[in-house]
Amino acid sequence: MFIESFKVDSPNVKYTDGEIHSVYNYETTDLVHENRNGTYQWIVKPKTVKYEFKTDAHVPKLGVMLVGWGGNNGSTLTAGVIANREGISWATKDKVQQANYFGSLTQASSIRVGSFNGEEIYAPFKSLLPMVNPDDIVFGGWDISNMNLADAMGRAKVLDIDLQKQLRPYMEHMVPLPGIYDPDFIAANQGSRANNVIKGTKKEQVQQVIKDIREFKEKNKVDKVVVLWTANTERYSNVIVGLNDTAETLMASLERNEAEISPSTLFGIACVLENVPYINGSPQNTFVPGLIDLAIQRNSLIGGDDFKSGQTKMKSVLVDFLVGAGIKPTSIVSYNHLGNNDGMNLSAPQTFRSKEISKSNVVDDMVASNGILYEPGEHPDHVVVIKYVPYVGDSKRAMDEYTSEIFMGGRSTIVLHNTCEDSLLAAPIILDLVLLAELSTRIQLKAEGEGKFHSFHPVATILSYLTKAPLVPPGTPVVNALSKQRAMLENILRACVGLAPENNMILEYK
Ligand code: NAI
Repeated sequence: MFIESFKVDSPNVKYTDGEIHSVYNYETTDLVHENRNGTYQWIVKPKTVKYEFKTDAHVPKLGVMLVGWGGNNGSTLTAGVIANREGISWATKDKVQQANYFGSLTQASSIRVGSFNGEEIYAPFKSLLPMVNPDDIVFGGWDISNMNLADAMGRAKVLDIDLQKQLRPYMEHMVPLPGIYDPDFIAANQGSRANNVIKGTKKEQVQQVIKDIREFKEKNKVDKVVVLWTANTERYSNVIVGLNDTAETLMASLERNEAEISPSTLFGIACVLENVPYINGSPQNTFVPGLIDLAIQRNSLIGGDDFKSGQTKMKSVLVDFLVGAGIKPTSIVSYNHLGNNDGMNLSAPQTFRSKEISKSNVVDDMVASNGILYEPGEHPDHVVVIKYVPYVGDSKRAMDEYTSEIFMGGRSTIVLHNTCEDSLLAAPIILDLVLLAELSTRIQLKAEGEGKFHSFHPVATILSYLTKAPLVPPGTPVVNALSKQRAMLENILRACVGLAPENNMILEYK
């Protein structure tokens, strides 16, 4: 059964005006490797840590500024939200289609809240905590192409034409602000697009972005802004001691107008200085150590990298299942071809390399979790190929072959083929990223013994379900397995309203 909303009634939860306060017992373990009676043993000591969570229940008016607003993702997301807000429907060759938010974890998935009369009861994910309604978001942003959003939607060739016609009047007047163009960082084939660029030194470009954010906030009367990079994939930046390894060296390099600071890092500096959450949806290392350091110093939320939309999402499910079932994947080969502008940009070796890196580490945690299957340091062969095929446009093809060793030396090979509009997968993920980033800035916590409430660590691991190569604070484990990422997110939100983690034990019926 499905219910629309619920309220928790517990001595551990208080709803006061504007705030949800919860006390939560976090069941965890301490691990020690100690000498007991002459032999070293691993000892696991369960412990309970009492946490308090405080969530600001006031939902702000949210502005979202996209870098690369006029691209396929930016125009598709903007169009999709307007279509939902306006309740637009359109005729396809099959049926009359209504706007929806399918593919969004926050808007279209559910959570289990308990059992009632022998039935499982589910509620919308978004009913857990007060969240911004995507229909109310004000969109804006930058693009190195000055095309208005209605034409950009046409250029993207993603949405049905009947829908595009209805959306044009809402989008014609939306024109991206000039972006930061540096041909050294993206493919040469993007040059003809760059007719809308911020001039000046890198420091002046950062100052312009800050000014843009302030003006956008003022003009649209929004309480908060989140900025998200959905512009072209850049090449990796070289990380060099004295150049971008600390906040101080990065800021000094900005003063010197150093060539090696990428446009995506410049946007990041601007956001951190302005204390605006900044998320990177592309694979490059926007978050060089100096920018992470700056974000930590200023306690400004950063998150990334690279939307986990299709092939990688499947990989982080399938390999988790195989390794979790005691089956040993030995070779994983992923081919893609796509014909959109992203594909054209990725046809240059240096931008492809960024994608290859971000796609390649996604099975590491699952492989490392099973020492029965893998020797230390052993890893399946893992190859990623991307080709640009203009004719298929945004409709990306992904072909995957997983070969595994099974019982008694047997082999099992699984082949997957997926055809899907890339931007229709990415747009709802962008929505989730900005909504959850905004929400997480309203949550404060403290463990017992800690004097004051504090926000989550500025490197937002809570977003990792949505990213291919989750950015984590230095010295923190990376979790790629999709089910663990979802459980982490859901269980943290449950803790904020005093609900225990979903443990799936269903003891009531045992
Ligand atoms: P796109 O090429 O259609 O859009 C990118 C836009 O960014 C273009 O309009 C371009 O003019 C603009 N741009 C480039 N450099 C800029 C700068 N410095 N400042 C402002 N604007 C700039 O690409 P699409 O398909 O929208 O993808 C965007 C990014 O998202 C790509 O990096 C892609 O790899 C990444 N991504 C996409 C996924 C998907 O499923 N669609 C999945 C994972 C990542």
